[in-house]
Amino acid sequence: MSGVVHKSLPHDSAPLHVTGRAQYVDDIPAPAGTLHLAFGLSPAARGTILKTDLARVHAAPGVVAVLTAGDLPGDCDVSPAAHDEPLLADGRVHYIGQPVFLVIAESHLAARRAARLGRVEVAGERPILTIDDALAADSRFEGGPVIWERGDAGAALLQAPRRLQGTIEIGGQEHFYLEGQAALAMPLDDGGMLVHASTQHPSEIQHKVAHALDLPMAMVRCEVRRMGGGFGGKESQGNALAVACAVAARLTGRPCRMRYDRDDDMTITGKRHDFRIVYDAGFDEEGRILAVDFVQYARCGWSQDLSLPVADRAMLHADNAYYLPAVRIESHRLRTNTQSATAFRGFGGPQGILGIERMMDHVAHELGLDPLLVRERNLYASGGSTAARSKQTQLTPYYQPVEDSVIRELVAELAERAGYRARRAAVDAWNARHAVLKRGIALTPVKFGISFTLTHLNQAGALVHVYQDGSIRLNHGGTEMGQGLFRKVAQVAAERFGVRADRVRITATDTGKVPNTSATAASSGSDLNGMAVRAACDKIRARMEDFLKGYHQAGTVEFRDDVVHVGGAVLPFAEAARLCHENRVSLSATGFYKTPEISWDRARGRGRPFYYFAYGAAVSEVVLDTLTGENRILRVDILHDVGKSLNPALDIGQIEGGFVQGAGWLTTEELVWDENGRLMTHAPSTYKIPACGDRPDLFDVALFDNANRAETIYRSKAVGEPPLMLGISVFLALSDALRACGKAYPALDAPATPERLMQAAARLREVIDEP
Ligand code: MTE
Ligand code: MOS
Repeated sequence: MSGVVHKSLPHDSAPLHVTGRAQYVDDIPAPAGTLHLAFGLSPAARGTILKTDLARVHAAPGVVAVLTAGDLPGDCDVSPAAHDEPLLADGRVHYIGQPVFLVIAESHLAARRAARLGRVEVAGERPILTIDDALAADSRFEGGPVIWERGDAGAALLQAPRRLQGTIEIGGQEHFYLEGQAALAMPLDDGGMLVHASTQHPSEIQHKVAHALDLPMAMVRCEVRRMGGGFGGKESQGNALAVACAVAARLTGRPCRMRYDRDDDMTITGKRHDFRIVYDAGFDEEGRILAVDFVQYARCGWSQDLSLPVADRAMLHADNAYYLPAVRIESHRLRTNTQSATAFRGFGGPQGILGIERMMDHVAHELGLDPLLVRERNLYASGGSTAARSKQTQLTPYYQPVEDSVIRELVAELAERAGYRARRAAVDAWNARHAVLKRGIALTPVKFGISFTLTHLNQAGALVHVYQDGSIRLNHGGTEMGQGLFRKVAQVAAERFGVRADRVRITATDTGKVPNTSATAASSGSDLNGMAVRAACDKIRARMEDFLKGYHQAGTVEFRDDVVHVGGAVLPFAEAARLCHENRVSLSATGFYKTPEISWDRARGRGRPFYYFAYGAAVSEVVLDTLTGENRILRVDILHDVGKSLNPALDIGQIEGGFVQGAGWLTTEELVWDENGRLMTHAPSTYKIPACGDRPDLFDVALFDNANRAETIYRSKAVGEPPLMLGISVFLALSDALRACGKAYPALDAPATPERLMQAAARLREVIDEP
């Protein structure tokens, strides 16, 4: 049916999700004889293993086998790239929670109970836990810092009429996907392996399993129907479970499954990188930024994982939506004895953006100007404007010109819609009348670069079948984690054939059908797979068209309204498919897509890493009890650019969810490690994600009408990650409320927990009271 795209069709699994019938990995009925696995974990953050006493583990009920590093076949590395993560610790341990031994048992509970009976003795060394520890020990990845510069920031800073420095500490974040990490491996009769995994990256699971079992990739198949959330935490963190299951299945000849319970999941797996960002800004009296020097410190944890591209993306978003005439960015990738930090929605972008948003806020405070005014004076010029065309003035710090900016129009429209200026005045007036409760308001923009920065990842494949009854089966390389990718891509397929959306069957992602896929990540799932599906559908449609023209002696063939128009005649789609089949026309095709125009020289920090940018902005208003730190978000207005939306309902859902997750990161979600490096916040009892009750009473999300200038699928834009950064407006609204407590700049660190807010308010009041 023409007009299937751009429609708000519900998520394809919505009825299954809400009735609990959707099958996740651990819901797949286990074949008879299935075994269950659990890891025994390192009790020490750093040191050499002296002895692993497993006698009681072996003796525990239901235990079939217990493995340590020495018992593993071949090379069981589970890292995504650097080859620095043995499945089980091989002599040294690097963080509390690192898997040291693997229990194979008759039940999930038996495996977990037995795993607790192991005694791992470690000759402990002083762990490197914090950014300061790592700097003192010079513990890092990549030798020294990575530095990118455009212009002479040092000289420009010296010449600037005004200058200020500041630092912000930014905490990490637990993914808290509802479905924990899980895998199920089934040995096949030809020696191959079938793996079901909760993963954003089936090809990598296939690759790691094949490597561990010393099999060609063609003998390993990974299938993923859906995840109960991934958020970046299932790009690489599922490798260990899948490899463990495959190794145990090979060893025992029986299917093996493994899932982490929540405490193990939080203790073992990596999280968002904590950052410290130090800024040195030069500006004029109107708040125009003339030069900035950023130093970003990323706490990467014990292994490299995806830390280098995450830290790169933080650098690539140090400018956010602002033109910086001269800029220097220095990035330190620090190695610590903590969980290996990994991808998390935004992939370093949120940390980079928070750095400059804090700086803008600080500059505005210093000049006594409205932060929105200072922001507006520095936003990138609009695409197509004279300023944008003179590429000199509109280069990003990495030399990519910003040609598609709509951020000025978008911010102006949002400020208007939300009544920002009147509310700013109302907040100030309200604060003058209230001593304890203070309100705050902030508008923050987002510009987010779309594409994988590792250029070769920007490719996708699809496999489409039309059956002789006119039903369509769709396979592509993307994975479904709740974001609605399958629905969007099915809409594309239906649109190409001009049929109802429900003719298109959505199937599990399967490495046996579409090979060599990239992780579903970088928000590019629908951009890449939508195009690949379009290419496959168009091949089939062209064959059908050719045949039907000849067969019916017709001048035109059109696929629309759920039928095929052949000349003057109308053929049901099923009839057209049947005819094609009977006349030996192939009704199956693959499709392939690679993003055009991108190139990136990472070493020099130059090029065009992004095909285009997505834009958005949010206004948040909060109220803060300055004596207790308790607070509420009162109202949120968002305007977000998703290009020409493939599915407005799903896109709005992504924006709402992303915003709330971003606000959680910067407010209630706090990770705490003790002085030995033990994660203290490893369950929902101590780690607080936003709940329904935390959502603002007034929550208005609107889409900014703006067809993508880049030739993306139906001119849509990626939406998965960018809205997370809209949550920064909540953090800065809280900071704004604090400003009403005193004259000094609050210089709030993240997350702004009630404790931290209360302490900040007390500090600000003391400064006022000093004579
Ligand atoms: N939305 C839901 N419901 N669940 C998720 O796990 N992951 C986010 C985002 N939105 C996620 C989500 C992340 S980190 C990314 S990269 C994108 O979805 C990936 O999907 P896409 O490329 O199809 O947007
Ligand atoms: Mo998203 S962090 O790119 O999986």
